[in-house]
Amino acid sequence: METRGAVSRDVLAGKLEEARERTRLLLEPVNDEDLKTQHDQIMSPLIWDYGHIGNYEELWLLQKAHGKGLSDRELYDMYDASLHPREERPSLNLLDRDDATLYLDAIRKAVLETLKDADLAGDDPLLADGFVYNMILQHEAQHNETMLQTLQLIKGDGYKPEARIDLPSGRATEDEMVHVPGGEFVMGTDDHAQALDNERNAHVVDLPGFYIDATPVTNEAFVRFVEDGGYERRDLWDEKGWEYIKSEYITAPKHWYQPEPHSWWTECFGFDEPLNLSAPVVHVSWYEADAYARWAGKRLPTEEEWEKAASWDPEKGIKRLYPWGDEEPTRKLANLDQLAFRAAEVGAHPKGASAYGVLGMIGDVWEWTASSFYAYPDFESFPYREYSEIFFGLDYRVLRGGSWATRPAAIRNTFRNWDHPIRRQLFAGFRCACDG
Ligand code: AVJ
Ligand code: FE
Repeated sequence: METRGAVSRDVLAGKLEEARERTRLLLEPVNDEDLKTQHDQIMSPLIWDYGHIGNYEELWLLQKAHGKGLSDRELYDMYDASLHPREERPSLNLLDRDDATLYLDAIRKAVLETLKDADLAGDDPLLADGFVYNMILQHEAQHNETMLQTLQLIKGDGYKPEARIDLPSGRATEDEMVHVPGGEFVMGTDDHAQALDNERNAHVVDLPGFYIDATPVTNEAFVRFVEDGGYERRDLWDEKGWEYIKSEYITAPKHWYQPEPHSWWTECFGFDEPLNLSAPVVHVSWYEADAYARWAGKRLPTEEEWEKAASWDPEKGIKRLYPWGDEEPTRKLANLDQLAFRAAEVGAHPKGASAYGVLGMIGDVWEWTASSFYAYPDFESFPYREYSEIFFGLDYRVLRGGSWATRPAAIRNTFRNWDHPIRRQLFAGFRCACDG
């Protein structure tokens, strides 16, 4: 699973083109006002993400990889995420849509020139096997998902996207859990072409046996928790989580409301609709996931348990790139790529099962794990500390598996995402585990 074969310049150029088409497709229906507005304190204005995508490409593909920066310092500073927290971004003198488009096009033209004679087979760790190009592709994909989080937070009329596919229906897997026997597996990866620094190095982990939910927790199950008074029972909550839900008056997942008792609806990109009880719960914080698990007499899986259940083939003793194997995701295997604008009902992608028979691990909803974000053994920051290293520690929890809003190039079994345990804007749900 470590090598995805030799890189071709034409393939990389094609992927860069396709990534940009998607960014523009997502932003095209958004009016100029909505592009500039900060729709939520924790998000950037969409126009910042757009300019930042181009500037990040300039920084890494022109300046760092080829020594050919175009812009002046001021522009780099404006789009440097570590210089400007999200709440400061609206006050910056950001490029407007037309200027940003011209800028992104100029950068891309220069990038395609350098790609012609980039040494992808040499020793430069940025260029070797196309790493820095793959990093840029994943970065644009990650910001696409961030932009969709922002678009879901637009108040008033909303974004109202048109689904590009019909999802298959699910099948009931009420309370089903899968047993993963104890023993060693390989956690993480040594890949240097696609994997990002925090996924390395591969290391053997010996886990006791455990049970893990066959599917993510559904809206139906979460309604039971809500209606059982889950948000009122102090004993179910982590202390900080209890303070958080009480001070923010949180009584249900974000975007849920009740037009009348026992009828739950949700606001989804500007559409109002009854909750699909068979779909995974989404827009919950880590604290809500943790409280639910306690209510159910279970716990959240650690990230090691999640990765073993997703990636280990116990018969062959090898690690899979995706739960179903090493073949690239397709619509039959997982709900990814911003095509449906929602999670599928649980069990809707039986061909995407892991070797242990666990369903829906890639796509649909990110899954909160019990684990804080930390470095694997022999971690080396690459190519910059601000990608992962500065976030290691107790402040963040790890999420796994990607969501319907994740592009395929930006997800695999070893991929680690992280956020604060109070965050609810992510397309995140969870599944439970228990000892066994
Ligand atoms: C990996 C999703 C936490 O969006 O903050 C984007 C990815 N890094 N630009 C983020 C990222 C630099 C990152 N997450
Ligand atoms: Fe970024």
